[in-house]
Amino acid sequence: MGAGDEREAMVDTPLSVPLESAEFYVGQPYDVLRRLREQADVYWCESGGFWTLLRHADVVRISKDAQRYSSAGAIMIDEAAHPERVEARGLDAGEYLLRTDPPRHLRLRRFVSKWFTPRSISALEGQIRDIARRQIAEIEPNKDFDVVEMLAQPVPIAVVATLLGVPRSDWQELKRLAAAQSAAHDAGSEDTFRAAAVARRDILDYFREQLRERREAPRDDLITKFAWGEIEGQPLSLETQLLFCLDFLVAGTETTDATISNALVTLAEHHEQRDAVVADPSLIPNAVEEILRYVSPVIAMARTALAQDVIGGERIAPGERIVLLYMSANRDEHVWDDADAFDVHRERASAHLAFGTGPHACIGAGLARLELRVVLEELLLHLPNLRLNGEVTRLRSTLINGISSLPMISR
Ligand code: HEM
Repeated sequence: MGAGDEREAMVDTPLSVPLESAEFYVGQPYDVLRRLREQADVYWCESGGFWTLLRHADVVRISKDAQRYSSAGAIMIDEAAHPERVEARGLDAGEYLLRTDPPRHLRLRRFVSKWFTPRSISALEGQIRDIARRQIAEIEPNKDFDVVEMLAQPVPIAVVATLLGVPRSDWQELKRLAAAQSAAHDAGSEDTFRAAAVARRDILDYFREQLRERREAPRDDLITKFAWGEIEGQPLSLETQLLFCLDFLVAGTETTDATISNALVTLAEHHEQRDAVVADPSLIPNAVEEILRYVSPVIAMARTALAQDVIGGERIAPGERIVLLYMSANRDEHVWDDADAFDVHRERASAHLAFGTGPHACIGAGLARLELRVVLEELLLHLPNLRLNGEVTRLRSTLINGISSLPMISR
């Protein structure tokens, strides 16, 4: 049986579509998702034990309804499939931005959002351009190189580490730990789950020490702001400070890394689109939106229902877990014509849900967009003729649609 036949079979018996499996996403299952959408808007994933929202409108409605759909329990596919993992991760839901419900979430969010205003983000453009130029300058013409190693990993970690105020000598180790902790989202393997727990502990130990240093000697960086921060006149608990550091490190690196490498694969696979952008760089901002829509760097997030509801004709009971499948919603043919095509001229590309929506919508979206624009501007200016030069190896994850190795060559 070929891969195509297997997919056919999966769709003929939709209850067996393994949405909880990292392997499923490695296969870039856009055809299967399209055929699922033809059958229903909301899909009960039997093997994962959760509801899956396939349509843009439903993902938007549920994401915005934080009163009835909680982020305090399972928020990722692997946790929706294994709810016991939330507690095993040792997380205190009340202190973690991504895992907090209103009204506590709003207070935490207000505390950090003042450093992510459009003005403070655009002030970083010069620094980000320097970082991107430095990395691109290391790529030699006519020699093969790995995009992940040379560009997709180094740029996002440099940006986040600069914001946090982490010394340069620690960037590489932190990047390694962030990747190891994200590997937990391969829901199938208990080994990676345990290794991820160790990485998370090491990251927290690292930041505990950094926070201690900032309390003694404040600097102009985010770690200092966390160390000295107050919400409603109360100092932040050490746990809140640590989880802010962890949140920004992990949320800001793996995601942007996945977008950069997928952007390069997508542009290499669509020459005519890449040539259009090289000829007219004013298309880059829309190309960034189209890449985010086309790629869905975060495959999905999840919520737990707190009340009865009906979504897409299905009755949802309190306690049930709901997966917001951005990878499907971003290809919803009710929103975009020819949604599976990649088109840098696409109208309303920015209506995508790559950054989520509602109260938990990505706080770093402006920063990520800036990084992606600057990297593409610099790349297409200095290395317009990048070609694929070998097998693309995809990350095994139920959270990040990432790439672990991407051989390319510049002609
Ligand atoms: C292309 C890159 C990125 C993508 C695709 C992405 C995607 C997302 C998504 C989908 C959410 C929503 C989670 C939910 O609704 O449960 C989110 C939240 C978040 N993101 Fe990003 N993100 C990116 C880059 C960044 C960067 C650069 C930062 C910071 C430096 C960041 C920090 C955060 C934080 C702190 C949250 C939690 C917000 C909250 O719960 O209120 N992200 N991101």
